[in-house]
Amino acid sequence: MAVHQRTRQSEAQLLQPKVRKVVDLARRLYLLELEGFPETFRPKPGQFLHLRPTKEDYPLLRRPISLQSYRDGVATLLIREVGIGTELLHRARPGDCLDALGPLGTAYSPVRSGESVLMVGGGVGVAPLVAAALEAEPGALVDFCYGVATAGEIQSLDFLSGRENEIRIHVSTDDGSSGHHGFCTEVAERLLEERRYAKIFTCGPWVMMRKAFRLGSERKVPVEASLEVQMGCGLGACLGCVYETPDGDFIRSCIDGPVVDGYGVSWENH
Ligand SMILES: Cc1cc2nc3c(=O)[nH]c(=O)nc-3n(C[C@H](O)[C@H](O)[C@H](O)COP(=O)(O)OP(=O)(O)OC[C@H]3O[C@@H](n4cnc5c(N)ncnc54)[C@H](O)[C@@H]3O)c2cc1C
Ligand code: FES
Repeated sequence: MAVHQRTRQSEAQLLQPKVRKVVDLARRLYLLELEGFPETFRPKPGQFLHLRPTKEDYPLLRRPISLQSYRDGVATLLIREVGIGTELLHRARPGDCLDALGPLGTAYSPVRSGESVLMVGGGVGVAPLVAAALEAEPGALVDFCYGVATAGEIQSLDFLSGRENEIRIHVSTDDGSSGHHGFCTEVAERLLEERRYAKIFTCGPWVMMRKAFRLGSERKVPVEASLEVQMGCGLGACLGCVYETPDGDFIRSCIDGPVVDGYGVSWENH
């Protein structure tokens, strides 16, 4: 299976979006809404923005963040604060102008009418899956397994319902405070026993994606995974984001990914 919807980074633009809103969801977890994109900005589900968190020299490198949605000129990003870059983005205020490059990277394949697709996402890894679910064609069915540590980290995905396709959200929490008590891959396994899916999309912690891949490969279901490795340039030049394929090739996650064919990843060598 080929990498889907490969996008040349030359399609990326230098952007100066404005902060519209910062919405706190839980401690160190927030939604960042950006506006002021040009008409030519048309991201595909799975693509990301490479954001400079500040106009100062430090931190120098941009930070890659998936686009969770882009609707009516507003981009929404779901961000976990883990270090200096995501902390500075958290401190941004409405009207602040950011420096961004995008949309970058490959996308998930389209969810066609009549297809059933299983999505398995953990933590902020649900962001690109939400983008894929939002683009599902009328008549598609999506089972969306959404795993978080605790109920306070769940963002409302009500905007995915009431559409001309069926999107079923299955929440799981590590501490049992909402939905299934345990991992989202356990829910995925149960669903895979009940239904034949056309494909599985996954994004989140490596161990979670590895499990999602195993579940898919045991049933010979295509798996598309978004690999959120650390990045440097985001443009294919620095080789800071390479990972090894089972054939011993090296792939640049920023331009050959982040969305890749799960069968082309050495899941055990990480
Ligand atoms: C394609 C892509 C899409 C992403 N989408 C999102 C998203 O939607 N929301 C979100 O919150 N994050 C996302 N990330 C991860 C995000 O880019 C990093 O968390 C961010 O760059 C960290 O920057 P920082 O300056 O806050 O932390 P740093 O100060 O740079 O690092 C803090 C700690 O986090 C570790 N770290 C940094 N980046 C990663 C990473 N990618 N994987 C594992 N550990 C890491 C560092 O080793 C360090 O221990 C994405 C990454 C990629 C490659
Ligand atoms: S981040 Fe520089 S080559 Fe991928």
